[in-house]
Formats: sequence, C-alpha cells, structure tokens
Amino acid sequence: MNILILNGSPHGIGGVTAQYTKYLEIKFPKYRFQTIEIAKKINKLERDIDYFNVTLQKIEIADVIIWAFPVYTMWVPSQLKLFIELLFQRNGKKVLEGKIATGISSSANFYDHTAHDYIHGISVDLGLRYVRGFSAEMRDLLYEHGRNNFLGFAKDFFWKVEKDNILEDRTIPAINWIPADLQKISSPKVTDKDGSKRIIIISDASPEDYNLLKMLELFERQVSFIVERIELNNIEIKGGCVGCLRCGNGDACFYKDDYADAFEKVKNADIVIYAGTIKDRYYSARFKKFIDRYFSNGHRHVLKAGLLGHIVSGPLNQLSPMRETLEAHIEVTHCQRLGVVSDEHPDPEVTAKNIKNMVQFLEHWIVSSQWQNSPTFLGVGGSKIFRDLVYANRGVMCADYNFYKKNKLLNFPNKNFFNKLGSRILLIMQHIPAIQKKIKGNMNNNRLKPYRKILKKIN
Ligand SMILES: Cc1cc2nc3c(=O)[nH]c(=O)nc-3n(C[C@H](O)[C@H](O)[C@H](O)COP(=O)(O)O)c2cc1C
Repeated sequence: MNILILNGSPHGIGGVTAQYTKYLEIKFPKYRFQTIEIAKKINKLERDIDYFNVTLQKIEIADVIIWAFPVYTMWVPSQLKLFIELLFQRNGKKVLEGKIATGISSSANFYDHTAHDYIHGISVDLGLRYVRGFSAEMRDLLYEHGRNNFLGFAKDFFWKVEKDNILEDRTIPAINWIPADLQKISSPKVTDKDGSKRIIIISDASPEDYNLLKMLELFERQVSFIVERIELNNIEIKGGCVGCLRCGNGDACFYKDDYADAFEKVKNADIVIYAGTIKDRYYSARFKKFIDRYFSNGHRHVLKAGLLGHIVSGPLNQLSPMRETLEAHIEVTHCQRLGVVSDEHPDPEVTAKNIKNMVQFLEHWIVSSQWQNSPTFLGVGGSKIFRDLVYANRGVMCADYNFYKKNKLLNFPNKNFFNKLGSRILLIMQHIPAIQKKIKGNMNNNRLKPYRKILKKIN
C-alpha cells in the first residue's frame, strides 16, 4: 500500500506533527510511506507549475492520502490552505477522486475540531473518501497511553482501507449556494463622519468580489465614523507564520514586511472588522496568512477595540466550523460582538438590512454603556486552554506569562483559598450521614443563598 503524507507543517520533518507520521512509518513497515512537504515548499508549489504537477503525479500513484498538519489559529496553517486552493484551481480533484484519506494533527487541542472538520469538508469536495482523523495533543506521543491511542487509530484506519470500506457514520453535504446579486442594492447617501472613533476594516477583496465590496460600501457610507481599510491585496506580507517561536519572549516577528504596521493599526482601532470572501470552506489563504501572523502577539488579547465583527461573502451558514471560529475569534479577543454578516440570503435587501443593523448597533453601543456579552463556551473554554498552555510553557512564552500574571488571568480554581477551604469543609461534612442528609435536603436553598443576598442588597 502506498501512503502519501501531505505535510502541512511549516516545520516540515523538524515539526511535532512529523514525529507522529514518523511513528506510523516505524510501526507499519509493511506499507510504503512517502511525504511531500507542502507547507515548507508552498512558494515553489505556487510559482513553479512543473513542480506542482510532479506533486500531482505523486498523489496520483498513492493509494492513501494522509493530511498531516498542526492546528494554526483554529484552522490549518495558511500554507496548507493555499495548497488546498491550488488543488481546486489546478485539477487536483482529478487525481484525488476516489482515494481514501484521513487527517492527523498535533496541537494544544484549541479549536482542533474546526480544523479537522475543514479537512474533512474539503476532502469530500475533492472527491476523497474520508475517514475521521486523529487530533493529537502535541505531547501525546511522549506517553504510552497517547501512543497506544494513536496506534489504535492507525490500525483501525488501515483496516478500513484494506476492507476498502470507510465505515463512517457521517456525511458532509456539498455546498449548495448561488450568490445573490447585491448590485441591485442602491448606494445610500454618505453619512457625515466623526473622527472620534477609528474603524479598521481588514479586507482581501479583489475587484471581482463584488458582493463583498458592496457590503463594505454599504457599511462605510452609513457609519458615522472614519473608516480605514487594510487591503491585504495591497500590502506586502512575505509569508505565513512558520512557528519559530522567536516572538515568545515578546520580540517582533522575524519577517520584515508590512504586517507589523498593519497590525499596529488593528491593535489601536476602536472597532475592527474582518471582511473576506470564502474560498472553498474558509477565508482565503491570503487572509489566513494575516490571521496566523497574529501569533507574534502570542496568546494575549491585545486589541484596544471594544467591538469586533466579520463581514463575509459566501455560504457561511453552511460552514458551521468556520462560523464557530468567527464567533470564537470575537470571544477570545475579549471584544464585544459587532456581528457576523454574510451575503447568503437570497434576498439582497435582507443582506443590506443586516449591514444597516450592524451600523445601527455600532452607533448605539458607542454612545451607550459599552457592555460586553459574557463569553460562551467558545470563549470560556478557549481561555482556559490558553491559561493552562501559557502556564505550562512559561519558560518559552514569557511575554504571555507576564501578561497573564499582570492581568490576573492565571485564575486556577485551586489557587482560590476560600473556594478550596469551603469545598474541603463540605467534603468532610459529606462523610457525616446526619449532615449529609441535611445538606441534601437543603441543596437548592443553599445554592441560592448568595443570590438572594445580593438581590436583597440591590433592592
Ligand atoms: C501560528 C500558530 C498558531 C497556532 N494555533 C493553534 C491553535 O489554534 N490551536 C492549537 O491547539 N494549537 C495551536 N498552535 C500550536 C501548534 O498547533 C502545535 O504547537 C503543533 O504541535 C505544532 O506542530 P509542528 O511542530 O508540526 O508545526 C499554534 C501554533 C502556531 C505557531
């Protein structure tokens, strides 16, 4: 069996992800493994069409495809995203159709499921028969338990391949979408602009992204603050994040390009909007390159913005993993949700109204109490993973660690003295049957005591 690993890690064989695929090679000597470095060679793959075609030939003779990737900013790295776009553009489907594929990732388990869902989705779009992948926590391989689970997954996967029956319980439907034409919407008159607040829009709109441009025009004309756009097509971002971690101690990213200046504007804006057109099942690779470079700010929520939103052209509501990452993006950056507007409603007037609603909410929020939605699981869960990661890796992520310490974000429950003491007392009391009976009988009452107290005080 010929197994082809498409390595989407910018670290190539020097990455954590490659240690997992190496482990497979050691454990399954009867199969022939070959790896193509996708992320490391992305510039050549994009520019050198012969090199790309040789890659396609290698894919053609493979029996099995393994997407190997680290999770980067809730998704796959921009380099792998670009390769996937190239596959769609350059006949990749022809060579992939019918092959069996899976995905193996290494990460901190922060939004790894959205990255896996994406790989599943595009695999189906490319005609592959997909077997649910394996998302390793990056250190799993170091422990016997982790190795056993990974081995179990691999044995199952190869069993499925040999049976030639992927035995999955899930199908992902193809995207079914005909874009509504926003050209019919007339342009509203331009509202007078007030310079007291700064709005920054980061956009990858090309002239052919008519709907996106129209939505931006509707927003910019109606909003009463000055808007500056960062056009990703007009600034130089030399490459995607390569995960070198040189920024871990707070140093600037090693790339010398326009990213730092652009991000400085984003950082200091009062309102930030990401605006992009969906390519395959996510923002474009160009946009993802910008998003991944945020890593140079570590895991610190550095935006001054109170409001953060997304304006998207494309079938966003058919792409729940993407939608989830956009909502999560707002929550983990500790901003208030300005909105996530897309152009997918068949009636263009509805989209225009949604943009207007976004403007109205913005204007209202700015002059009102500027409250913040309390985060859902997306933000709460994400922040806890960050907190643990930063603490565990404080030797490398020193800038993050100092920030977390300063902002009291290392809020581990076992560090809360009163909680610890109260829980300990309750635990001991649970062992005394008479008290246990009393506690149980009074459980709801006890639970509500602090709420009643506070409401009485406020009243
Ligand atoms: C730019 C960047 C973004 C990352 N984003 C995530 C993330 O969203 N979720 C996560 O769990 N890990 C994230 N990580 C951690 C990597 O997924 C993890 O370290 C992985 O094991 C690296 O594999 P590699 O050495 O093969 O590149 C990120 C790392 C980098 C450099």
